[in-house]
Amino acid sequence: MKFFIDTANVDEIKQAQAWGILDGVTTNPSLIAREGIEHKKRVMEIISVVGDIPVSAECIETDVDKLMKEARDIASWAPNIYVKVPMNANSMEVVKELSPQGINFNVTLIFSLPQALIAAKAGASFISFFVGRIDDMGSLEAPLNVVEAVNMVETYEFPKDPEILVASIRSPLQVTESIKAGAHIATIPYKTMEMLFHHPLTDIGIKKFYEDYLKATGGKSA
Ligand code: E4P
Repeated sequence: MKFFIDTANVDEIKQAQAWGILDGVTTNPSLIAREGIEHKKRVMEIISVVGDIPVSAECIETDVDKLMKEARDIASWAPNIYVKVPMNANSMEVVKELSPQGINFNVTLIFSLPQALIAAKAGASFISFFVGRIDDMGSLEAPLNVVEAVNMVETYEFPKDPEILVASIRSPLQVTESIKAGAHIATIPYKTMEMLFHHPLTDIGIKKFYEDYLKATGGKSA
């Protein structure tokens, strides 16, 4: 499973890259707004840091013609841009038209299996399933089944061989569930990504090894 970072913060991206686990970046208008910087400027800054791994940048237009123009523009910023559009009928019209022209789309705000099927049929490259926002609702809706979504994209044929991207992740447990489900990608906020390195027994073990080493060397560190 690929690890993407869900942030528009360059320092967080640099750290994830230094850890050697970064396969891509997803941004959205809320994450960009948090940074207080112009959209294209920040996306280009991110690309200059990460090189040619996938970077998702989101459209905000809703009208078909305007969205078509905006999607073409965002795609022209760099070859590794994945144009993010929300699931709705107008967006799918745009994906259907531009995907065969070589533009990669990340269809976002997916909460049901039929929505995922529609995105795949339209020509999405990434299908972003939001798991955290469902949990935030106190599971009022049946939780999305990532296993079924992965199974779906692997069972049928679609124009772009879409990948299931688990998004809106809030905890390491959701990362574990994504791995178990066979998700192709999980996009993870920095704080959660950092937590993945830890386990209580790992941390206790590190401390104990160090203390025993000091005992054996009479208090001298390496
Ligand atoms: C996905 O690409 C989105 O940017 C993101 O995962 C949304 O997460 P949120 O529910 O924490 O806003």
